[in-house]
Amino acid sequence: MKILIVNGPNLNLLGVREPSIYGDSSFETYLEKSLRPPFDGKCTLDYYQSNVEGEIINALHGAIDAYDGVVINAGAYTHTSVAIADAIKAIALPVVEVHISNVCKREPFRHTSFLTPVCVGAIMGFGMDSYRLGVESLLAGK
Ligand code: DQA
Repeated sequence: MKILIVNGPNLNLLGVREPSIYGDSSFETYLEKSLRPPFDGKCTLDYYQSNVEGEIINALHGAIDAYDGVVINAGAYTHTSVAIADAIKAIALPVVEVHISNVCKREPFRHTSFLTPVCVGAIMGFGMDSYRLGVESLLAGK
């Protein structure tokens, strides 16, 4: 099984950005040290990050025929992007929404997600482990 992990805006700054909320590890370090090892031999995990809405949409389109599922943390676009929601609807792939923080415990503007209704499900609030749980859920669905 091939899974694409997509991170949206400002998630390139994980480890530096608001560490009290998002932790002190970069995504690359987490990916190599913690995320890939337990799935070794079970699935391939590719990673893409962009701060640009259209590039995230292009990555989702590019996943058609190339991946079996997508784990997406669209960052703040979660709460604003009809276009990313439409792209998720357009691709015939299971997509799992993840968030590092529990967005429902934070500011009211983070309580709305345009993506949850078009994703298989959403995982939030488990720190970086949300990504592992997202991958597990895709594997369990196969
Ligand atoms: C986030 C939550 C979003 O509200 C925020 O804009 C992010 C990160 C999370 O992983 O907790 O950039 O998606």
